[in-house]
Amino acid sequence: MMQPASSWIDQFGRQKRKLRISVTDRCNFKCLYCMPEHPEWMDKHSLLSFEDLYAFCQFMVERGIDSLRITGGEPLMRQGVVHFIEQLQSLRALGLKRIAMTSNGHYLTKYADALKQAGLDDLNISLDSVDSQLFQQLTQRELAPVLAGIAAAQQAGLSIKINTVLMQGINDSQILPLVAWAKQQQLPLRFIEYMPLDGDAQWQRQQVVTEQQILQQLAPHYQIEALPQDQSPARIYRLDQTYDVGIISTISHAFCGQCDRIRLTAQGELYNCLFAPQGIALKSEIQALAAHSDVARDQLQQRIAEYIWYKKSGFHAIHAQAHSPRKISMHMLGG
Ligand code: GTP
Ligand code: 5AD
Ligand code: SF4
Repeated sequence: MMQPASSWIDQFGRQKRKLRISVTDRCNFKCLYCMPEHPEWMDKHSLLSFEDLYAFCQFMVERGIDSLRITGGEPLMRQGVVHFIEQLQSLRALGLKRIAMTSNGHYLTKYADALKQAGLDDLNISLDSVDSQLFQQLTQRELAPVLAGIAAAQQAGLSIKINTVLMQGINDSQILPLVAWAKQQQLPLRFIEYMPLDGDAQWQRQQVVTEQQILQQLAPHYQIEALPQDQSPARIYRLDQTYDVGIISTISHAFCGQCDRIRLTAQGELYNCLFAPQGIALKSEIQALAAHSDVARDQLQQRIAEYIWYKKSGFHAIHAQAHSPRKISMHMLGG
């Protein structure tokens, strides 16, 4: 198959509309399913500046990206990120429809109002337990600031979703308490199957709490109705005709058929899939783009289009072929 000259489309006809930008690999949490035991942080001087990132976002929006998500590590650990979100507003005139962020919630008491004012559309917050002791075991941090952060974000009027990664025998006991808590808070909740993207490559299939197992836990307590699936990775279930819970089940029930996402690391590597064995290093071209080089513009266009074109069909196709663990994990890819 020949690759088309423009627009971010892959060999399976899936157009890329969502770009996720990791602004830092650093995080103040140490989630069991994400961070390596001994993280080697990227050198701060090696990161793309916000000016570079802005130029890249503009370039991508001009070519069909309509949704940006700012991720980390913990994105609020990078100084200047709120101002960056404010700057991104000007890309709406070029077709950008949505600016979102994924955060661990710890710094939200400080930043929620500013994020709202900066024009953030959506905020996803990780919360893997409402039991403070278990939360501490899972993250090495306190639960209370996160709950306060969620409350601050609600108060600021931000649109919020809660994400919970489940691990067998660790926090599967939290399914019912989390649903009860989120329902009471009127916050959308999504359970995520644990994926082989943890920092120390310790993932095992039997640690996954599958969509089926989640539904089995909910079934005695709620009347469950499956809703038709949209573009989002979550399958939505309506509980007692009143409250919706999402399940992101990459392992037991992959949803790659319509994947419209790509990801950039803080050092300017582009990944066409969470599980792609390799990204492409775009840092110097992005820096040249920010310095208004037309050559860089053409080169970027070509390299990105080609790399996206060869995106694999999805998780199962890649996982079946993976031989050695890759160096990059979720804390660099931003979920
Ligand atoms: P939307 O932009 O609203 O669709 O948000 P989102 O669900 O992509 O954002 P979020 O960062 O909250 O994603 C939740 C989690 O879903 C991520 O942290 C990942 O664990 C998982 N996820 C997101 N995108 C993908 C994807 O493309 N493939 C797979 N397998 N999992 C994904
Ligand atoms: N499996 C599934 N989701 C993960 N995340 C991080 N590591 C993993 C993993 N191994 C996701 C969580 C978190 C977001 C930042 O990344 O959803 O909320
Ligand atoms: Fe997209 Fe890869 Fe995630 Fe599948 S696993 S949804 S192809 S990023």
